[in-house]
Amino acid sequence: MFGSGYVGLVTAACLADAGNQVVCVDVDAAKIDKLRAGHVPFYEPGLEAIVKRNADSGRLKFTTDAAEGVAHGLFQFIAVGTPPDEDGSADLKYVLAVARTIGEQMNEYRVVVTKSTVPVGTSDKVRDEVGRALAARGAQTEYDVVSNPEFLKEGAAVSDFTKPDRVIVGTDNPRTAELMKALYAPFNRSHDRVVVMDIRSAELTKYAANAILATKISFMNELANLAEKLGADIEDVRLGIGSDPRIGYHFIYPGCGYGGSCFPKDVKALIRTAHEQQFDAELLRSVESVNERQKSVLFDKIRRHFGDDLAGRTIAIWGLSFKPRTDDMREASSRSLIEALLAAGATVRAHDPVAMEEAQRIWPDRDGIVYCDSPEGALDGADALALVTEWKVFQSPDFFEMAKTLSARAIFDGRNIYDPGLVNAAGMHYYGIGRSAPL
Ligand SMILES: NC(=O)c1ccc[n+]([C@@H]2O[C@H](COP(=O)([O-])OP(=O)(O)OC[C@H]3O[C@@H](n4cnc5c(N)ncnc54)[C@H](O)[C@@H]3O)[C@@H](O)[C@H]2O)c1
Repeated sequence: MFGSGYVGLVTAACLADAGNQVVCVDVDAAKIDKLRAGHVPFYEPGLEAIVKRNADSGRLKFTTDAAEGVAHGLFQFIAVGTPPDEDGSADLKYVLAVARTIGEQMNEYRVVVTKSTVPVGTSDKVRDEVGRALAARGAQTEYDVVSNPEFLKEGAAVSDFTKPDRVIVGTDNPRTAELMKALYAPFNRSHDRVVVMDIRSAELTKYAANAILATKISFMNELANLAEKLGADIEDVRLGIGSDPRIGYHFIYPGCGYGGSCFPKDVKALIRTAHEQQFDAELLRSVESVNERQKSVLFDKIRRHFGDDLAGRTIAIWGLSFKPRTDDMREASSRSLIEALLAAGATVRAHDPVAMEEAQRIWPDRDGIVYCDSPEGALDGADALALVTEWKVFQSPDFFEMAKTLSARAIFDGRNIYDPGLVNAAGMHYYGIGRSAPL
């Protein structure tokens, strides 16, 4: 397993838990040291116990030595990062570096499985890269390339991996499809969830899945902004449309924008892929720009409330991670809000149940941010509260106590988790996303 991040480590640990022998290879020596010492270097519920028991049993090993990984396994998984390049396209340098290493090191048949999210056509590049490295040393070892995109969600990654909705296997070789089916058999007992297709369709399937989810969110955010102008409440609209099974309740929550390591970069990369084909992905461009705009909605509301002058104000921020149950802050809405508040001269008092360490890594010694140990501590001395991530612990605060602490008595609810009536009853101003002001 090349790459021991959110995807690689979960995949490796769950495969080991099913009885496979797995070697994790990562170029980050500090990460490998931590893993060897029994610590998962990021927050993912349930993962540490699985990593620990499989490491203890010897089924899961960690190394920085790529040669050891290539010598070890029939399956060579590539689960390294594919961050956006300057033009928005996925940067494939890590994926291709692994492909090259595999070609340089392999001495018997290998199945090279791309698990990273990669643009259509990347498997061809992986195949070429492995082939070139083999040719350079005059070797003719046989190998196959498979696209096996991952659909797990951070925060529920273990159950998503072990009880997948589907396992996509993109291959042009029936023998490889059978090998992949055998590997996934332990997670595929109740009914067959493996969908075999050609490689390009598999690569596109991953982008299609993320793009439609991002589209649902941006659609609801657009409607929320309109509802506000019309004096309607988007939360009622949400319930009204979600009841239609063709629409459903999933992923239609309005909020202060989507973030994370996947949606923003994958939407961007798909737009770029379309552009390379001289095709204008109009809808996707809008999904992206609506989301960018949405990330400033909370800040705009805060600024309006305080009459455009935020200098000297203190805002409590509840939630830093891009969503609950993870410490991942990549492209998190909290980052845009905090940057905007600091630029406007405000001070931020922040609390997150698990992402405080990550925030301090992102903003080491940054003036204007005070990290607080508890949600209540963040409110101390603050003028107002902005709720950015809907962690459970933030769901039922004592609004009457809060009214005593927050000098401006205002809540900016970026995820619509509070009842405006209750907030108002405690004598506070409530600002949600797409909700008409209560009478
Ligand atoms: N995070 C998610 O929720 C999620 C879900 C589905 C798919 N994906 C996709 O999976 C891929 C990995 O994402 P992630 O969130 O796990 O990334 P990550 O940043 O958490 O982990 C990537 C790891 O790869 C390592 N790495 C880089 N180059 C390497 C090399 N040459 N050899 C070995 N290791 C190397 C890095 O050190 C890092 O530990 C991305 O393409 C992402 O889009 C992510």
